[in-house]
Amino acid sequence: MPLVLLLIFPLLLALAGCGGSGSSSSPPTPPPTSGTPDTRADALLAEMTQAEKLQLVQGSGDSNMPRGGAGYIAGIQSLGIPALYYGDGSVGVANGIGPATALPSSIASAASWDTNEAAKYGTIIGSELADYGINVNLGGNINLTGREPRDGRTFETKGEDPILAGKITAAHLTAIQAQHVMAGIKHFAFNDQETGRFTANAIIDDRGGRESDLLAFEIGVKDSNVQSVMCAYNLTNSQYDCENSYLLNQVLKGDWNFPGFVMSDWGATHSTVNAALNGLDQEQPDQQYFSQLGTAISSNQVPQSRLDNMVHRILRAMFEVGIFDDPLTIQAIPAAADAAVAQEVEEQGAVLLKNSSSQLPLNGSTVQSIAVIGSHADIAVLSGGGSAQVQPIGGAAITGPKPCPPCWSTVIWDPSSPLNAIQAKAPNAKVQFADGSDASAAATLAASSQVAIVFVSQWASEGMDESSLSLTDLTSTTPINQDALVEAVAAANPHTIVVVESGGPILMPWLSQVNAVLEAWYPGQSGGPAIANLLFGVTNPSGKLPITFPASEAQLPRPVIPQPPDNVTPFAVNYTEGYNVGYKWYDVGGFTPLFYFGYGLSYTTFSITNAAIVNNLSSTTNPNFQVTFKLTNTGAVAGAEVAQVYLGLPASTNEPPKRLVGWQKVLLQPGGSQTVTIEVDQNDSSHPMSYWDTGTSSWQVASGTYTIYLGNSEAAASLTTVGTITEP
Ligand code: BGC
Repeated sequence: MPLVLLLIFPLLLALAGCGGSGSSSSPPTPPPTSGTPDTRADALLAEMTQAEKLQLVQGSGDSNMPRGGAGYIAGIQSLGIPALYYGDGSVGVANGIGPATALPSSIASAASWDTNEAAKYGTIIGSELADYGINVNLGGNINLTGREPRDGRTFETKGEDPILAGKITAAHLTAIQAQHVMAGIKHFAFNDQETGRFTANAIIDDRGGRESDLLAFEIGVKDSNVQSVMCAYNLTNSQYDCENSYLLNQVLKGDWNFPGFVMSDWGATHSTVNAALNGLDQEQPDQQYFSQLGTAISSNQVPQSRLDNMVHRILRAMFEVGIFDDPLTIQAIPAAADAAVAQEVEEQGAVLLKNSSSQLPLNGSTVQSIAVIGSHADIAVLSGGGSAQVQPIGGAAITGPKPCPPCWSTVIWDPSSPLNAIQAKAPNAKVQFADGSDASAAATLAASSQVAIVFVSQWASEGMDESSLSLTDLTSTTPINQDALVEAVAAANPHTIVVVESGGPILMPWLSQVNAVLEAWYPGQSGGPAIANLLFGVTNPSGKLPITFPASEAQLPRPVIPQPPDNVTPFAVNYTEGYNVGYKWYDVGGFTPLFYFGYGLSYTTFSITNAAIVNNLSSTTNPNFQVTFKLTNTGAVAGAEVAQVYLGLPASTNEPPKRLVGWQKVLLQPGGSQTVTIEVDQNDSSHPMSYWDTGTSSWQVASGTYTIYLGNSEAAASLTTVGTITEP
């Protein structure tokens, strides 16, 4: 090493945040600077003492976090191993680290159906974590809560389809790691309800799992190079997920060749020996069980090679994402630039669900009076709670009803005013606000206004499920009956528009009484201007539902959420629907939902013509085909359409009638058209044409006829049959 480097090396280590243990008197051994992540990890491992190895496989406790966040592992200064700082961040850097950009919910990002947009979303999370010096992200929630849309964490997820969820999540994770922040994917696996989340025992067969939740993880892992996987609190087939050899050793590290490491969810470890042998690599947030790992090794209950493998995986992950080579610089967040991205994501992900009589877009120069009602729309938009909760830049507009801090379980309203943004779009209109606490006062205001916009909201959080999909106001000690509010306003004004702020599906008993509905999800701290841009047509809505909205809870696989008998006894949650999650379940059962997966309106219209199957490379080893078509904007304004390709497998496979296999979002000017080609490649991580064959434990392509559908939602009426292909 040149002298100058030797002299500044201690300084570099300090900047890299090595901190922590290691003798400060002995000169530091520089970590290897060349080779692959694996060879560098092995070289470093060879230098480590047993105590140093054990240090890396367990968190330091969640009261010892120099940079805030959720966890910490001290670096090993004598070897140049940087400290690991763990921070939540599913929808922006989470509370407990510092103020950050509150992005729209992850489900809004999925509703954009746009991996480029998803990459921008991940970049904000990664870069803001980096600005706080947090080098490990606990995000990437990909649980398929479409199985249980009342799940309180649905807002953190990417919807119900494994391929859409997998691709959007992979785009988030790739973008986060490009910032030299280690991304994570969670909660592995089948963590699809919060009710009894520590003891829920998901019962599902191999094929059902491989083609649903596990497929989403498989795509997320393979397409992103994500380096950490968080195992979940629950059990799967009667084994706790963090000591589940099937999930961790067989599927993740075996079948998928995952080279990174598995960390436990916070407190999800249940044993020392079983967890170590069955695939857990790092206990978090503290040392309840892995504190005895050294003893378990010296008594030959766990081989030394297993500890070495855990440490190898952690170190190689750190090398892979640049934690050694590209130390983070703590600096201020570029709040204004990031807020603009948050607004763009919301404008791309909000879904226009109803627009009769062309109620929308509003004309800002002709509308004379607007009543804005409910959900604190004068000053705020709602956010989701739990460990994903962001402390918005500028501070929360409203908190409560529980005090904050601690903010984990309180309701936080992000500071963004739909009312002001609406007024700005219609400067000459009289725009007035009613808080909705008095339905008749709101109706009176609506009656004297040309247009009424009612904001309804459904708070959701980690640690609880929605008691029902009916609007329930948990945000106040004096809850508002929001369904009755909408009905009263709609009765008073025939031009009623509803804006929904929710983490997932809700029921809409008033749907036929209102002219327009915009699903805004939790819109993030630029939500006000984004919603106004959509309502006034500055941006043409182009989001599509990544999750089915049921017509009633009776349509769900489990109309009543399975309940735990107590806090300790595992209880079965039977996923008898198997791989028929979301729209597949509705298709198989013949249910008509309130709104179909893939559905969303625009202010323009589109046509699809000349659809054909091309390059059908039919073969048993690499079937592969393309769908080509001409997409035309047949309306008067620019807009983007998401063309969706679904595939029906041969009846012999016993698959649901169709599955999403490809899509493309295309922006077109009025009258404009584009020839679009969507490729469906069996070599893709999504195994688009396959079923999981339990006998051979492999993906197989069945002989027979495959039907290809094309359209703009999964509803049969929105699809045309492009043709069929036959596999030998
Ligand atoms: C959550 C995780 C989170 C962790 C650390 C757990 O309660 O389930 O998603 O990353 O806490 O905050």
